[in-house]
Amino acid sequence: MDDRPIGVFDSGLGGLTVLKELMAQLPNENIVYFGDTARLPYGTRSREAIIKYSIQCIRFLLSKNIKAVVIACGTASSMALQAVKETFDIPVIGVIEPGAEAAVRITRNNKIGIIGTQATIASGAYPRIINQLNPGIETLSVACRLFVPIVEEGWSDTEIAYLTAEEYLKDLKLWGADTIILGCTHYPLLINTISKIMGPEVTLVNPGADTARQVKEMLAHRDMLREDEDAGRYLYYLSDFSQRFKQIGSSFLNKDIEYPEKVDIENY
Ligand code: DGL
Repeated sequence: MDDRPIGVFDSGLGGLTVLKELMAQLPNENIVYFGDTARLPYGTRSREAIIKYSIQCIRFLLSKNIKAVVIACGTASSMALQAVKETFDIPVIGVIEPGAEAAVRITRNNKIGIIGTQATIASGAYPRIINQLNPGIETLSVACRLFVPIVEEGWSDTEIAYLTAEEYLKDLKLWGADTIILGCTHYPLLINTISKIMGPEVTLVNPGADTARQVKEMLAHRDMLREDEDAGRYLYYLSDFSQRFKQIGSSFLNKDIEYPEKVDIENY
């Protein structure tokens, strides 16, 4: 048993889609959330920058006495997971493996579409893991650069989001993917828009659900689950003030979230 909180980070709001799954599957765990809003987006940065940012995010979370880290960001998971595992002596779980495993389980026609940031798509992390799991599966990857700013702006369910998504998704639609991985943790906030375009036959995989399941299994296996039965508490930190974080976050999580505290991440 281990009563310390779980640390979760993303470049901004996207990690809340993973946090929501963690809250549902691990309701007694305390969680510290960090959004690196001062340096968002991560998806257009170099590998070196993403590794440096991820290490700083984890150093900050360690200052909050966490017991494990969830990289709730597709970009940081695809670019920095290995480096942070080598740097820190604490369990770290990213979103790529859980997302790939879920999609491989779900596909029926063996055609998996992957959408993500420029960096995640360029890393080739999803196709690599999918092909390790099943070499008979074909993948088609599309970088959707405008999705993160649209979500951060609070425009997920607008005409702008719809037209943008239509353009990005047209090749995947033509190609006939039956399963699409929402390979950036911001994208589940666009799920209504994306599913309108892809239609009911296409399954959209939110890697957050399987990530939370793996976190639960890992903590149980190491006897690190929190023992107290009262509801978990959640603390939010951002590296820059974001007007929308509290508003979009509260509405997405269906609970009034604490006002995020500002952290100078360059000190870590
Ligand atoms: N949520 C991050 C991801 O999963 C967004 C990346 C960004 O900041 O560009 O990739």
